[in-house]
Amino acid sequence: MSTPVNLPGHYRLIELDTVDSTNEEAKRLAAAGAADGTVVWAKAQTGGYGRRQRTWVSEPGNLYLSLLLRPDCTVATATQVGFIACNTVAEAAAAALPRGTFVTCKWPNDVLVEGRKVSGILLESSSRDGHRMDWLVVGIGVNLAHHPAETEFPATDLAREGAEGLTPARLLESLCARFSANMVLWRNMGFAAIRRNWMRRAHGLGQPLTVRLDRHTFDGVFEDLDGDGALMLRMGADLRKFTAGDVFFPHLAPGH
Ligand code: BTN
Repeated sequence: MSTPVNLPGHYRLIELDTVDSTNEEAKRLAAAGAADGTVVWAKAQTGGYGRRQRTWVSEPGNLYLSLLLRPDCTVATATQVGFIACNTVAEAAAAALPRGTFVTCKWPNDVLVEGRKVSGILLESSSRDGHRMDWLVVGIGVNLAHHPAETEFPATDLAREGAEGLTPARLLESLCARFSANMVLWRNMGFAAIRRNWMRRAHGLGQPLTVRLDRHTFDGVFEDLDGDGALMLRMGADLRKFTAGDVFFPHLAPGH
């Protein structure tokens, strides 16, 4: 049975009990011509995945959704939507949690509560000519009722951090309304406004940080986010720019 969900007018909801992955479903719908604003929401996923093809454990109780967008922009510009999604989740989490709870954004697109991961965001896209966007899928997973144990980066969930009476359906509504508003902000004010909001919640700004790529690890200080969303790492006299990578904070032991 479908759950009553109130979404912004131009969004169309596809609600599923279970699916392999909402991102996979959104990509299938995109290939079949589905419109901008299609929202795929599943109560559970059998094959949920995150960045670098890591498994995203997807038992019922948490939120799993993918937004299908067809933004009129280049592939490079579309990465900015990840920061829009990150700000959106951080705003929704802060609104649901007790006042004063520490909600931060971990580069590039994770949301932390009290230093632990509560949400991950995965962008997947296809371009028309290798340059202009055809479709963009924004996959969002939020730990609402439970979180995986023994993750490489410590995890938590909103209920554990004090969110009361929040259901996946209510969080979906809150996210879609805020995401739609943040997309308008992006269109009207550009990435500078999105970057400013992300920076207000940036986790570990000015602090030691490790960036891990497939083969190399870089230690430095998180100095800035550049005008395109790249992480600027101070390594002595060098300022290195990263557009991808996994970030760790040396003062936080894994599993903390
Ligand atoms: C990450 O932190 O690596 C990103 C995790 C993204 C998980 C979400 S859950 C909804 C959507 N469907 C998926 O299979 N993945 C994303």
